Amino acid sequence: MTAVTTGTTARTASVGTGHTRVEGRDKVTGAARYAAEVPFADLAHGWLVLSTIARGRIRALDTDPVLAMPGVLAVLDHRNAPHLDTDYTGMLGKPDPTCAVFQHDRVPHLGWPVALVVAETSEQAREAAEALVVHYEQEPHDVEFTADHPDARPVDGHMPAVTEKGDLDARLASSAVVVDAEYTTPEEHHNPMEPHAATARWDDGRLEVIDSNQGVTWVAGELASLFSLDPASVRVRSEHVGGGFGSKGVRAHQVAAVMAATLLQRPVRVVLTRRQMFSLAGYRSPTAQRVRLGADADGRLRALEHRSVSRTSTVHEFVEPSAGVARVMYDADAHHTANHVVRLDVPTPTWMRAPGEAPGSFALEAALDELAEKCGIDPIELRLRNEPETGPVSGLPFAGRNLAACFREGARRFGWADRDSRPGVRREGRWLLGTGTAAASFPAGAAPSTATATAHPDGTFTVRISAADIGTGARTALALVAADALQVPPERVRVRIGDSDFGPAMIAGGSMGTRSWSWAVKTAAGELRERLALGADIPVEGLTVRADTTEALGALAPAERHSFGAQFAEVAVDVTTGEVRVRRMLGIFAAGRIVNPLTARNQFLGGMIWGISMALHEEAVRDRASGGPVGADLAGYHVATHADVPRIEADWIDDTDPDDPVGIKGIGEIGVVGAAAAVANAVWHATGVRHRSLPIRPDRVLSAAAGARDA
Ligand code: MOS
Repeated sequence: MTAVTTGTTARTASVGTGHTRVEGRDKVTGAARYAAEVPFADLAHGWLVLSTIARGRIRALDTDPVLAMPGVLAVLDHRNAPHLDTDYTGMLGKPDPTCAVFQHDRVPHLGWPVALVVAETSEQAREAAEALVVHYEQEPHDVEFTADHPDARPVDGHMPAVTEKGDLDARLASSAVVVDAEYTTPEEHHNPMEPHAATARWDDGRLEVIDSNQGVTWVAGELASLFSLDPASVRVRSEHVGGGFGSKGVRAHQVAAVMAATLLQRPVRVVLTRRQMFSLAGYRSPTAQRVRLGADADGRLRALEHRSVSRTSTVHEFVEPSAGVARVMYDADAHHTANHVVRLDVPTPTWMRAPGEAPGSFALEAALDELAEKCGIDPIELRLRNEPETGPVSGLPFAGRNLAACFREGARRFGWADRDSRPGVRREGRWLLGTGTAAASFPAGAAPSTATATAHPDGTFTVRISAADIGTGARTALALVAADALQVPPERVRVRIGDSDFGPAMIAGGSMGTRSWSWAVKTAAGELRERLALGADIPVEGLTVRADTTEALGALAPAERHSFGAQFAEVAVDVTTGEVRVRRMLGIFAAGRIVNPLTARNQFLGGMIWGISMALHEEAVRDRASGGPVGADLAGYHVATHADVPRIEADWIDDTDPDDPVGIKGIGEIGVVGAAAAVANAVWHATGVRHRSLPIRPDRVLSAAAGARDA
């Protein structure tokens, strides 16, 4: 490092150029440590014991024999666990009591944590946990999710449950063309590569938790509230995270680890197994959706109804807001949407990549395809004819809506113009071929964050923000944003993230992480550069500027802010085996300024692969008799693997958020939106058969083909 000056020789355009991950080398060489790998002297290991019944009470736990087993240090359960406070509102709302472990003897679902066995080694803890005999008083349970469940009722969640304008029945009755169809999506699980893991310890009067999560200040705040601690006395660190997708917030394992560390006064680690994650990490609720569309003969929508039913537990209300996507995408004189929820004896679902939009776009975009068929209009033309001027429900202007441009560019690159719209007419040997398309959207938001930027005397800089890089490349993106604000090459900027001591910041969630953090980082780094330009001295310990975006975000004018996209898929269907293979896929997105094309493409592609997986593979099955998941592992729960994923292309058009300092909108979730619909629409084009229930399994293809033959 030579020059100590800033801003003279500097490159000023790092944002928009491809950079490999700054921690990539550490990750591939194994130098990067994940939460369960950080060494601690005197570490003890906790193993969670989960209920084997789906509803009832714990009558007794035979802990004495377990306490006599080798290495066992303690057993925590509802009789000896410390009291937790759940009567608070955290960063994302009321806590799910599922994470408040061992507070009572009730069991609300199978896989509910009933005890933690702590031992010297992980193996001893596991053996003892499996030996622990728990006696239950079992009650009849109900885990059966149906669209017409009598207990289903509207629930708000993070948006109003119901929106209604216009006379739906009248508009449907007077429409030239009507689609009325029901769609279902199954229970789906996040399955990040790295299972949840946390180590808790008390260090000089402070609680420190080494964790794998999507937001350190979020988890620190929840733990402080649950344990009634001074927030300043809780520190959560989460350096590297092997995927999250919505599942990595505060969960039973961190809370149990803190309890045990407090009791034993030594570090305690609790790791979830893959199997336990199917009960303790949240999941996407199954949905049953009904879409009714009424249109003029030229395809212009007059009536739109989107109703969704999802499922939650008996202890916490979580809504998968699938009908919300219709509030953004299409307008009609009569426009009704509703999200309903039914409470069953199951684990609480949670946010999972594009919560609401992923299943909602499947139903809505498949229904649009059915309408295009009935109207005899090209599916892209149908969508272009129904582009709204303003938010269909809000009436607010769009802060950029480049959906039409995405379709035009996508159609050109995919070769859509040559498409024969008739279904079931393209054959290649035993394969029927088809193509399909669908629209995508996802909200673009930002939340208040704080960041610091420090100039060092050697000409380097350190940015600190309690951001999370859950695999997105956020750390690298922030280095590029900071480098441009400082007008130095990114190599001179260190970005430190994943430490709650850096101050409050948005979580890696809602596709809002990089945008929210960039805003704070750019503000801090920009101010630092100004101070340096005015000749500020850099002391040995560095010159630090802190920024907080709370006020700037409060001043944002209300608007419909979203990323948009157009998805295209080509499939081949073997109607004698029922196999569906995706042959190629293309997604074109208008998702704001792209900070790092390399990692951004990776996010879009990852989302689109989720779409293939959602369309064809993923389905968690719940056993009615036991109430538990069947095949709760990666053998029983199928996700798309390399062999299922063909050539996929993701690209974007010029798009920028006019109100964002960097122009960012957000890219983490939109890749999955519409992707399953594009595949399902392509399957219809290949075979002439509509599949309205996901996944489109071989047996479903075969029985549908048999049904079509018999008809
Ligand atoms: Mo995402 S479901 O906002 O982690």
